[in-house]
Amino acid sequence: MTLHSRLLPPMPVAEDYRAHVAGFGPLPGGGPALIAELDRAGLTGHGGAGFPAAVKWRAVAARSKPGSRAVVVGDGAETEPASFKDRTLLALRPHLVLDGLQLAARTVDADRAVLYLSRANDSLGRTVAAALAERRGADTVPVEVATAPPRYVAGEETALVSRLSGRPARPRTVPPRPYDDGVDGRPTLVNNVETLAHSALIARRGAAWFRAAGTPEAPGTVLVSVSGAVGVAGVYEVGYDATVGGIVELAGGALGTPSAVLIGGYFGRWCAAGRAWPVTIEPRSLRRIGLSLGAGVIAVLPAGRCGVAESDRVLAFLARESAGQCGPCHVGLPALAATFHAVAQGDERPAALDRLARWVLEIRGRGACRHPDGATLFAASALEVFADELRRHLRLGPCAASSAAPLMPTPVLAPGWR
Ligand SMILES: Cc1cc2nc3c(=O)[nH]c(=O)nc-3n(C[C@H](O)[C@H](O)[C@H](O)COP(=O)(O)O)c2cc1C
Ligand code: SF4
Repeated sequence: MTLHSRLLPPMPVAEDYRAHVAGFGPLPGGGPALIAELDRAGLTGHGGAGFPAAVKWRAVAARSKPGSRAVVVGDGAETEPASFKDRTLLALRPHLVLDGLQLAARTVDADRAVLYLSRANDSLGRTVAAALAERRGADTVPVEVATAPPRYVAGEETALVSRLSGRPARPRTVPPRPYDDGVDGRPTLVNNVETLAHSALIARRGAAWFRAAGTPEAPGTVLVSVSGAVGVAGVYEVGYDATVGGIVELAGGALGTPSAVLIGGYFGRWCAAGRAWPVTIEPRSLRRIGLSLGAGVIAVLPAGRCGVAESDRVLAFLARESAGQCGPCHVGLPALAATFHAVAQGDERPAALDRLARWVLEIRGRGACRHPDGATLFAASALEVFADELRRHLRLGPCAASSAAPLMPTPVLAPGWR
């Protein structure tokens, strides 16, 4: 299994602008040729949906016009609690992300460039501010930093657009997509910060170089946040030919016997460890067993830990994080989470499991954004993978492992949307 260091430096030391330019060379020009190169490279988005980067860049470039010039936004909010790859990338290689943002701005003819972070005044915010100060004068379009409110859906692109347009950071129904009607009604390119960093490398080294890693179907490398019961939790850069088990080995191996693995974060799915282990993270092979890497999350649950209790807490988190605008999400997710919790506590009858399975189908696809879809996907996988444990909880109440310290983070986020 190869550990790559295209995006992340071999040593975890933050790179300043001088070292960055010395290592990568000056920033090329951008423009239509870069869009063609991104197309040839087959770069897809790393924010979760895997949308082809060139298609989005081309759409925004075509819509930018005098009086309504494009806006480019680097989405570094990283609101998924099990993900930490974006903040790691920004902390170690801020200039690669900022290069990508500049190239995007030049290529789509933007006159506004924004880096969207969860906080501006923490150490990451200070690193980014220092990086911006170092490159002052070198950038064609000055970059502003904007902050997302601490809510799960605030990183979603239409919530981001609302926030940057002076409204609460709540998602809205699409279409219109941001490239048609974005920040202040202008065509807006929203890319995850990792996508932008890959673009900056492709601009310098070309599509053939990019394709030398990964597979013909899924070229390039990906940053994966590996957590849970592993030797060294952290961010690992691998090609799409890497297997789930191989990535866990890179992270020092599983601690104890792994029982299940969560792939794709809280909008992802649990999978029995034995089933997931040999599968490559190429989207097509993950899809074959109903999985998706999402924004690049792998979390390992060891035998002896309670998948029901872990899922219970994550579902409560996802229910709290509904933006409260759409009935099926606002009402359905808390009902789903409450019933799951009652099952976990042994306070329900077996019929509750059928009710949960039915609600999963009824809630799915009925929100303005993908929040309820992601939450119900996660719930469905918990019902399937932990079916035996759930029945045991119903019969006997919470197991001894339920009281162990949580493995999966479920932060209590601040209320409010502004
Ligand atoms: C609830 C929700 C939260 C999201 N949070 C983030 C986030 O924190 N960062 C991010 O880059 N994308 C996030 N996304 C995905 C964005 O909406 C969007 O697809 C992405 O930023 C596009 O960039 P990409 O094409 O480079 O992947 C989220 C999506 C959803 C549905
Ligand atoms: S589906 Fe849920 S999170 Fe998405 S906009 Fe509607 S209420 Fe908000």
